[in-house]
Amino acid sequence: MIIHPTENTPGTNKLSHIAFIMDGNGRWATMRGMPREYGHTIGAKVFRRVAEYCFRGGIDIVTVYAFSTENWSRPKREVDAIMNVFGSYLKMGLTDMAKDDICVRFLGEKTPFAPETRELMERLETESLGNRYKLNIAVNYGGRAEIVNAVNRLIASGAREVSEESLSSAIYTAGQPDPDLIVRCGGEVRLSNFLMWQSVYSELYFTDTLWPDLTDNEIDKAVENYYHRKRRFGKV
Ligand code: FPP
Repeated sequence: MIIHPTENTPGTNKLSHIAFIMDGNGRWATMRGMPREYGHTIGAKVFRRVAEYCFRGGIDIVTVYAFSTENWSRPKREVDAIMNVFGSYLKMGLTDMAKDDICVRFLGEKTPFAPETRELMERLETESLGNRYKLNIAVNYGGRAEIVNAVNRLIASGAREVSEESLSSAIYTAGQPDPDLIVRCGGEVRLSNFLMWQSVYSELYFTDTLWPDLTDNEIDKAVENYYHRKRRFGKV
């Protein structure tokens, strides 16, 4: 069970936004003698379970890194499989997200997706707008590209210079607080171009657990670990 300290515990910042780098699907499948694509099918199921667990546990915003701008260069068969899993999720999401009071936002440019996928993504965003829990899915996402796009959008709207505030209002997560905690599965200890602007003061939690093996118990552990950190935001 996710446990938050009571509101009047001094020195704690409530964990309201958690982000996940869902790494290790391919290895998880290979270890079982299955094609990598199978790992993504299971990974998508785990993604739903994890998001629901976090929302039930009182976390308001969940962000997941599902597909990076670099992932397009994987073998076509694997990219197609991920897009299929993603497409099925979108169709299911359209019926389930409203019921579960979840507002979905996609982080990333939608132009490279097939027109029908794009349409589903836009519908899901529009139809879930205003729901209580925020679920951000980073697809075709790159942190540097996000910053460059934001600057270009500001320039196109007439800005001659940008500020931290204007840039924060032009990135994909505009209007949301930055992630308090970023959890990376799969054993690598890096951010891999994820939330470059938003992660400056995020606490980081790395685990060797492969994404499909991530249990509720390990999420509890990551949250407990977060609440033991001293967050000073550059102050003393
Ligand atoms: C990283 O594992 C995972 C991905 C690149 C794809 C993740 C996609 C999904 C979970 C499915 C679609 C998404 C949603 C939101 C429904 P990896 O393949 O890099 O694993 P490896 O490090 O073992 O090779």
